[in-house]
Amino acid sequence: MRLKNRVAIITGAASGIGAATAQLFAAEGARVLGVDLQADGLHQHHDDTPNIETLAMDIAEEGAAKTIIDTAMARFGQLDIVMNNAGIGSNAPGENMSPEMWQKALDVNLTAPFRICQAAIPHLKNAPAGRIINVASVMAQHTDYGLAAYCASKAGVLGYTRTLALELGKFGITANCILPGAIQTGMTHAAFSNNDIADIWARKSPLRRLGQPIDIARGALFLASDDGGFVTGHDLNVDGGMLLRT
Ligand SMILES: NC(=O)c1ccc[n+]([C@@H]2O[C@H](COP(=O)([O-])OP(=O)(O)OC[C@H]3O[C@@H](n4cnc5c(N)ncnc54)[C@H](O)[C@@H]3O)[C@@H](O)[C@H]2O)c1
Repeated sequence: MRLKNRVAIITGAASGIGAATAQLFAAEGARVLGVDLQADGLHQHHDDTPNIETLAMDIAEEGAAKTIIDTAMARFGQLDIVMNNAGIGSNAPGENMSPEMWQKALDVNLTAPFRICQAAIPHLKNAPAGRIINVASVMAQHTDYGLAAYCASKAGVLGYTRTLALELGKFGITANCILPGAIQTGMTHAAFSNNDIADIWARKSPLRRLGQPIDIARGALFLASDDGGFVTGHDLNVDGGMLLRT
């Protein structure tokens, strides 16, 4: 029970990495507020787990951060861990990308985590071991066609989180990023349901497989628990070594 007596907020908890992490944190003793746009997915994954409560909400909405933090405090009376995991892709060449696609990726992937952290920090300062875990991507450091907005937003998450680590260490709060590789989730379902595409991405890893949501959840558990207590400002690649080769 590595998260006994801890309270965690996890965004994007209705699918993929967020759903798996909410379940793992709850199994390790945490009380969890799972947040997502998709109410159905939240119910489907978490209704049978007593220590997970859910909140259906768009994290990019004005006022969402305050609602999320207030909800966690009202339901649990404390806050120890914030995992900003909800995210969206982009899929258009940079030259032709609409300003709307650009802005939406920045709003969801970068500005919403900024706002949620800002609203959470006063409460994390009261926690014995406050934790911020921001989910970026290997594409924060690399790229692929169509990912201009996605890469820009995820690179922003790295810079933002590193600075939080520096500023919040004196309050005993750690702030780290996780950089997932190619993981089988809702986001990648369309691509990886094509066996040829799935195989290409699996073979990029020396481990010769795609990642699963639980692989990332285990990385998050390390950063959230006492095991990660002296790790801050770190970018944790959980990618099966896919970047080792060019
Ligand atoms: N799957 C991968 O290969 C991969 C690789 C690198 C990084 N990531 C990152 O991992 C994170 C989790 O993604 P996933 O792969 O589990 O995908 P997913 O699509 O399965 O889950 C993402 C969840 O975020 C939610 N979400 C999206 N926009 C939201 C909003 N505005 N408000 C509230 N919820 C919102 C979605 O409804 C969904 O349930 C994302 O930040 C993603 O960029 C994924």
